[in-house]
Amino acid sequence: MSDPTLSGAGPDARSRRIDMAPQPAHESPGTGGPTVFDIKDVGVFYGDFKAVKDVNFTVAKNEITALIGPSGCGKSTLLRSLNRMNDLIPGARVEGTVSYHGKDIYESGVDPVEVRRRIGMVFQKANPFPKSIFDNVSYGPKIHGVPRAERDDIVEDSLRKAALWDEVKDDLKKSALALSGGQQQRLCIARTIALQPEVVLMDEPCSALDPIATARIEELMVDLAEQFTIVIVTHNMQQAARVSDKTAFFSTEVNEVSDTRTGVLVEFDDTQRIFTTPSDVRTENYVTGRFG
Ligand SMILES: Nc1ncnc2c1ncn2[C@@H]1O[C@H](COP(=O)(O)OP(=O)(O)OP(=O)(O)O)[C@@H](O)[C@H]1O
Ligand SMILES: [Mg+2]
Repeated sequence: MSDPTLSGAGPDARSRRIDMAPQPAHESPGTGGPTVFDIKDVGVFYGDFKAVKDVNFTVAKNEITALIGPSGCGKSTLLRSLNRMNDLIPGARVEGTVSYHGKDIYESGVDPVEVRRRIGMVFQKANPFPKSIFDNVSYGPKIHGVPRAERDDIVEDSLRKAALWDEVKDDLKKSALALSGGQQQRLCIARTIALQPEVVLMDEPCSALDPIATARIEELMVDLAEQFTIVIVTHNMQQAARVSDKTAFFSTEVNEVSDTRTGVLVEFDDTQRIFTTPSDVRTENYVTGRFG
């Protein structure tokens, strides 16, 4: 594909980004929706240690894909490989192919900054900047050169989409650190979507939140999926079952020689199938709580 979609941001980056809105893509096997990611034989190393291997699945547009599995099976590692966040970890290396609209994001000439703008990320612990609510959300557009006048609209729109606007609209100058944990996490979601990404990756976004704030974010995710494609890591089985369309279950295999554990993708399917009639006994044991 000759699409320069992910090449570096020059002075005309904004207009180019608009020109390069995601193409109507090929059909995703088994879904009917266009494929956003086609992940083929992906493995991730930290130095000599292979943290996760043999990962093959596709992510369809406007779907929520959940990554589940026991601690250490490589969910965060794999998630970070989808927007080249692992590049920031010394010694991390990705093998295989992560195709985004048919373009390998690890190909030479691809700009990781542009990759991360199109494929945004929300972390486990809300990490607002020690700045005002407004500045948190306008920060990304500002460094990408969006004029101040447009940033006002982006801030409002992003806060509305993140279901936070009504709570903060009279207080945009207030420090983001004065918000509750659940509000901070919605602010981080607003900050991510202010860059108008196509995909939002979320790594256990509710693990530090109480059940009410969690329910709020879950509702939000379902709303956001109308506009964005979401990949979420969660330890909460009910959450995966409630919000996701597809689920990837990972487990670990012990390497006898090195006495290390490598994550593997055991099964990828419709969420309903994973939680009712999985095809692998390891998946069944995990989703029914029999996994030790
Ligand atoms: N920066 C790193 N450097 C070296 N090894 C790492 C690094 N990050 C993760 N690992 C290792 O890679 C493996 C997978 O870790 P990862 O954090 O992806 O698992 P996880 O499935 O997200 O676990 P959890 O559910 O506990 O968050 C683990 O063995 C972990 O120790
Ligand atoms: Mg993790």
